[in-house]
Amino acid sequence: MNQDKTIEVLKKQEEITDLLKDILYIRYGNRQPLAFVHTYGCQQNVADSEKIKGMLIKMGCTMTEDKTQADIILFNTCAVREHAEDRVFGNVGQLKALKKSKPSLLIGLCGCMMEQQHIADKIYKSYPYVGLVFGTHVIHKFPELLYNAVTSGKRLVERGSDDGEIYEGIPMHRDGSFKGWLSIMYGCDNFCTYCIVPHVRGRERSRRPEDVLAEARSMVKAGYKDITLLGQNVNSYGKGLDTDVNFARLLKSVADIEGDFRVRFMTSHPKDASKELIDIMAENPKICNHLHLPFQCGSNRVLKQMNRRYTREKYLEIANYAKSKIPDLSLTSDVIVGFPGETYEEFCETLDLIREVKFTSLFTFIYSPRVGTSAAKFPDPISHEEKAKWMGELLKVQEEIAAQRCAGMVGKTYRVLVEEQAREGILNARTDNNIIVELKAPTELIGSFRYAKITEARNWILRGEITDVWT
Ligand code: SAH
Ligand code: SF4
Ligand code: F3S
Repeated sequence: MNQDKTIEVLKKQEEITDLLKDILYIRYGNRQPLAFVHTYGCQQNVADSEKIKGMLIKMGCTMTEDKTQADIILFNTCAVREHAEDRVFGNVGQLKALKKSKPSLLIGLCGCMMEQQHIADKIYKSYPYVGLVFGTHVIHKFPELLYNAVTSGKRLVERGSDDGEIYEGIPMHRDGSFKGWLSIMYGCDNFCTYCIVPHVRGRERSRRPEDVLAEARSMVKAGYKDITLLGQNVNSYGKGLDTDVNFARLLKSVADIEGDFRVRFMTSHPKDASKELIDIMAENPKICNHLHLPFQCGSNRVLKQMNRRYTREKYLEIANYAKSKIPDLSLTSDVIVGFPGETYEEFCETLDLIREVKFTSLFTFIYSPRVGTSAAKFPDPISHEEKAKWMGELLKVQEEIAAQRCAGMVGKTYRVLVEEQAREGILNARTDNNIIVELKAPTELIGSFRYAKITEARNWILRGEITDVWT
């Protein structure tokens, strides 16, 4: 990694940010511009948007939740499935009228979709009112890109190539004040055959442990109570660094920071999930009893086609080890239904695996072909309707498992973090093992740890009452 180069690049961005402060102020009639940022996709994108917001605030912008009021609108996009892309196109289409009524409005698109040439081309051709397009690889240069777009008055597309660098010290504005994301690595090297992420996020690279720990310490100091370490495959953390810190040890070091907080992480790849990691989770009360371990499919033949590099047996071994070591563990997972060439019998192996592991919850996806991935070229004879039927079957199996799991929690008491208002008089709180509990309590409790006894389970919705003293 070339630290001097990254420091120099960011210094230039700081200087441009100062210039932009005046330029934007004047452009919007001697007032602070209002900026709206909408995020699609995964937590990695949420974390990127927090950087974009941090940079916008440094340029003198005020953030707004109302896009009709905004002077600058940015959509941070996701390319993982066709549906995600369609939503972006639909929402960008709706901005046309807004731009017409407010010509000074600056519309920008960034994120994973923009790293695909065919998408960037389509946006340029079909959405002439979009003034700025930039990909994930150049996010650190956002001030410069915005400056160029504003001062040239021309439309600007910047995609750049992955330079493999990590830019430390980009300003950041976190959305939450007690729950926060902490990126420990970027990119992905796994090239699962269905997945666009390595194509749009570049090669895997890890932040230095001292940078991660410094940020974690500052989050704890600022009052964060729930910190999630983020990466596409956290289990391979440290690859390429000249340190012997692996993910399990990094996690332990974060948990060792003094303070009343808890730490979780995502995503774990089963091929690299180690017993050392599970042991460290089991030994450290601050590490949440939650393991998101995507299995994708229960058939070894399909797993091979997916290039997942583990077998069903290996998956079950690590899942069972985790369950045996960590009482009350929540295992969650991602699953793809209808991978090209998957047969109904192979899909039934997925159902069997779900029944055997008994996941707390599942993120379920019907396979979506992505341009540029190798699976997009595989023969795919099963119709979408048929795949949707399989999905219906899977959801029924999972609903029963989730309902049983929730019913088993009734009568027990858990330490929860009170997170938000669900509706009038009702708050949502989260257990350490990532299950939401509805509580009747005043909003002043949001952001605090409480003890809650589960009083009722309605399918997979839990209700509870606070048992510690809070008045
Ligand atoms: N890095 C994570 C997942 C990132 S993408 C991991 O390896 O587990 C999140 C999820 O989207 C994946 O786990 C997969 O289940 C799903 N997904 C990715 N590409 C997909 C595609 N082309 N069609 C359907 N689902 C997909
Ligand atoms: Fe995609 Fe596989 Fe990388 Fe996850 S590990 S981001 S599914 S290529
Ligand atoms: Fe989507 Fe990019 Fe995340 S493709 S899932 S936002 S890494």
